[in-house]
This record gives sequence, C-alpha cells and structure tokens, in this order.
Amino acid sequence: MTGFEMARRPRSNEGRLVFVYLNAAMTADGKLAPATRHFIPFTSARDQAHLLELRTTADAVMSGARTVDLSPVKLGPGGAKYRRARLRRGLTEYNLRVVVSGAGTLNPRAEIFKHRFSPIIILTTNRARPAQLKRLRALADEVKICGDRELDFHFALRWLREKWNVRRLLCEGGGEINGALFQAGLVDEIHLTLCPVIFGGEHAPTLADGAGFPSLSDAARLTLKSQKRIGDELFLVYRVHHRARPRIAGPHPSLLAP
Ligand SMILES: NC(=O)c1ccc[n+]([C@@H]2O[C@H](COP(=O)([O-])OP(=O)(O)OC[C@H]3O[C@@H](n4cnc5c(N)ncnc54)[C@H](OP(=O)(O)O)[C@@H]3O)[C@@H](O)[C@H]2O)c1
Repeated sequence: MTGFEMARRPRSNEGRLVFVYLNAAMTADGKLAPATRHFIPFTSARDQAHLLELRTTADAVMSGARTVDLSPVKLGPGGAKYRRARLRRGLTEYNLRVVVSGAGTLNPRAEIFKHRFSPIIILTTNRARPAQLKRLRALADEVKICGDRELDFHFALRWLREKWNVRRLLCEGGGEINGALFQAGLVDEIHLTLCPVIFGGEHAPTLADGAGFPSLSDAARLTLKSQKRIGDELFLVYRVHHRARPRIAGPHPSLLAP
C-alpha cells in the first residue's frame, strides 16, 4: 500500500457530497479548441454571459493545468452584477478557484496567479517533485496531494467539502480533466454550448479525453434536460446517470454461493 493510500480514510460515499457540473463550449465537430490548443474565443457574447451566470451557482470553479496555462482564465465570478447574484444565493462574493496539476507542471506565470481576489487551491499528486511542490506552494493558498500517480477525485472532493465547504463544483475543462471526472463517475450535470464552428484536427481537445470508455455499456449515459437555441448556438443541459459500479473487484459470484 502506498503512502497516499495509507493516509487517506476510505468512505463509502466519497465524492457524492459535492454536486459536480461541467460547462464547455464545443464546436459542431466536438472540439473544445483547435489542435494547436491555443486559446481562441469562438463563442458568442451570450455564451460568455452564460459561463458567468453558471459561476454564480458554484462554490468553486475548477480547471486542469493546461487550460490555466494556455488561456488567460482567472476562474473568478466576473463583474459586480454576477457577484451580487452570488450573494443573493447565499454564496460567498468570490468563488474558490481550484486547479488540477497531477505532475505539478503548472506554469507559475499563468494569468490566474496575477489575480488574488479569492483562494487558489492546487490539487496534485506524489508525482510532483519537491521543487515543484515548493513552487506551487508559493503560488497557491493551499496545495493538496490527492493521489500517488493520478488524482483521486473521490478523495479530492471529500476534502474540498470538509476543508473548504464546497458543495457545488463547476468544472470548466479541458478535455483531460473532464475525461477523468467521467471515469471516476463523478459528473452530475453537463452544460454544453454547441457552436457553429468546425476546428477539425485529430489531436484537438474534445469534451472528454483520456482513456475513454471501451464500450457502450461502460459509457457515461445522459438525459437531455433542456435545450435552447439562441442565434446559431444551442445551449444544452444534460443530466448524467449514475450507476453503482464496484471500484474494487469483489470475489467471483461462484465463491459466494452456499
Ligand atoms: N471550449 C471550452 O469550453 C474549453 C474549456 C476549457 C479548456 N478548453 C481548451 O482545452 C485545452 C486544454 O485541455 P486539455 O485536455 O489539454 O488539458 P486540461 O484538462 O485543462 O489539463 C490537463 C492537465 O491537468 C492535469 N490533470 C488532468 N487530469 C488529471 C488527473 N486525472 N490526474 C492528475 N492530473 C490531471 C494534468 O496536469 P500535469 O501535467 O501537471 O500533471 C494534465 O496535464 C486548451 O486548448 C483550452 O483552451 C476549452
């Protein structure tokens, strides 16, 4: 058993105490960005407002290291009208900001670190070397190790709930972190803006990258909750079905037979 596994306290409902919702803008060919991964704003002003409206419902907004490195995101609540909306909902004026960087490769010069309006939390793993951890600790309000090789999102969510009182976590991509959350079975809802653009490119990020699911029976299954067309964009909301999936293989059923 590794150091991380020994240190964590397993609980049966880890992670389920936090509502996790994704927001993404996607081209008609399913991409989040061009294959260069450079930041290109390709959505309407309405979609930008939608992103800020969704943030008014979140305790914390989370993104992966490459999204934070490659785009000028601050992950904050936006202007005064959005902050007032948060206060009306009983949330703090400024949301927490969470960045996932398993190997600690996050660029210290990323735009987010120049804006100190609310705590920044970095979730990492034991893959981050001591020098990287030191660098991250100088940048963030807290750096939490949540796994040995890959981030254990169940552990991370439980910790975010216990330490930072996060009940609603909005993940804003990119594809790798979204894919990991789907693999962990932790996504509750998806807000997707389908945009009238084709980027193409087999290496362009998609809504859910990483290993993926090998078959339809393993795939995340969705129900369309709502749809709205504004101009040539479609604003879609999906609920994600949760299945009780054993995470640790139990004994073969034949061994349980009397
Ligand atoms: N259209 C949209 O709505 C939208 C939204 C967001 C992003 N984007 C675009 O998407 C692209 C970035 O997406 P991306 O998929 O390349 O990267 P990403 O998901 O933003 O970040 C990937 C990084 O996050 C860390 N990470 C993610 N999952 C992890 C896990 N399970 N365990 C440990 N660490 C994990 C790793 O950091 P380490 O390398 O440090 O281990 C990994 O390299 C950019 O082009 C961005 O502009 C578009």
